[in-house]
Amino acid sequence: VVSDSEVIPFSVPGYACQRRTTLENHNSVLTDALSLLAENAELSDEDGRGVAFRRAAAVLKALPSAVTHVSQLTGLPCLGEHSLRVIKDILKNGTSSEVESTKASERFKALKVLTGIFGVGAKTADRWIREGIHNLQQLRSSGQTLNRAQQAGLEHYADIRQPVSTAEAEAIRGLVERAVASVLPGAQIVLTGGFRRGKLTGHDVDFLITHPEEGREVGLMPKLVSWLDSRGLLLYQKTSRNSYLESQDGPGRPPSNIDRFERCLSIFKLSTPEAAKTDLQDAAENGVQSEEDGESQSGELGQHLQRKAASERRWRAVRVDLVVSPVSQFAFALLGWTGSKLFERELRRWAGHERGMSLSSHALYDNKQVKRCTECRLTRLDKLAYLTTITFLKANL
Ligand code: GTP
Ligand code: MN
Ligand code: MN
Repeated sequence: VVSDSEVIPFSVPGYACQRRTTLENHNSVLTDALSLLAENAELSDEDGRGVAFRRAAAVLKALPSAVTHVSQLTGLPCLGEHSLRVIKDILKNGTSSEVESTKASERFKALKVLTGIFGVGAKTADRWIREGIHNLQQLRSSGQTLNRAQQAGLEHYADIRQPVSTAEAEAIRGLVERAVASVLPGAQIVLTGGFRRGKLTGHDVDFLITHPEEGREVGLMPKLVSWLDSRGLLLYQKTSRNSYLESQDGPGRPPSNIDRFERCLSIFKLSTPEAAKTDLQDAAENGVQSEEDGESQSGELGQHLQRKAASERRWRAVRVDLVVSPVSQFAFALLGWTGSKLFERELRRWAGHERGMSLSSHALYDNKQVKRCTECRLTRLDKLAYLTTITFLKANL
């Protein structure tokens, strides 16, 4: 028992982007619990609640040691009543009843399995659940019409849910570098997303591509994609000039965070004897019983068989995101695609509320000057933005 006088309270700044957060997390029991509740909220179309739990988890992630006593949390930002209740529960009982019951709920398990299919979002999953579809078997036999992305997602489900390793990310980088070098010599490619933040695994591999001469990047994506496709390296791809902004941002709507860069959401066919071996080991060590994604026995068996098949082939499916940006917007694009999602969100909130500026993956504007923004002013702001992004990245990687 610790007396209150011995407890040293923690202190962290209010915005996630102001904190130095390392990959070392001293409070993973608490942050896993809050992240699960965040995920459940997001899957239930309750984004506000989702963000609140994500913010609370991020605060605990930034603490220099494990929380042992709830009084250490006094004065910390972003810990709402609900999050505090969960934390107290865990500190007192070792688990949170809300987290345990969420984990055990059929609906949550089904949402996780179904949204684990590439191309399936919370809305689609919810509709299927209401139609009695809770797992892959039921989906396969339901006769539901699947779009091209969902078909690919279902076909490569077992591969895609296996985390991507740094070695695999490097192998993909090699492929993309070769492709880019042959379709547009001089173009540059950077690994972004979680791997750029130093994570050791990811759910996909993210790349940003540019050319040092403005305008030379135009038309790059289709050439890149057809180079990869003609060599049999793509299992699925969808290239889009994002039209989200045009369709969503009417008057009175807040500007969307989704950018307008040309992008390609894809599934690569990566030859990896190593991946095949790992799958085989995994299947041998874990058997079919230890899956924790809430699939039924037959679902687990199906996945097991998919993985077993994977171990007999010499390739695996890997999700890859490709984005092309003009060099003049490269700094913003790089910052915007490095993540994490919460970090980006908080950085934009901080820029708006504390600095009166709007940050996107394209530019940084001073809100007061946005109306009379001249070429000259923009150039100056671009430079400022570049320095700002570098400073942020140094402080937060
Ligand atoms: P894992 O892939 O799970 O390892 O994590 P991650 O951080 O790499 O996540 P993800 O690949 O989903 O996203 C990488 C970064 O790209 C995140 O910072 C996202 O905010 C950003 N991102 C994803 N989609 C979009 C988008 O449509 N527009 C913009 N601007 N950013 C996006
Ligand atoms: Mn990623
Ligand atoms: Mn991604």
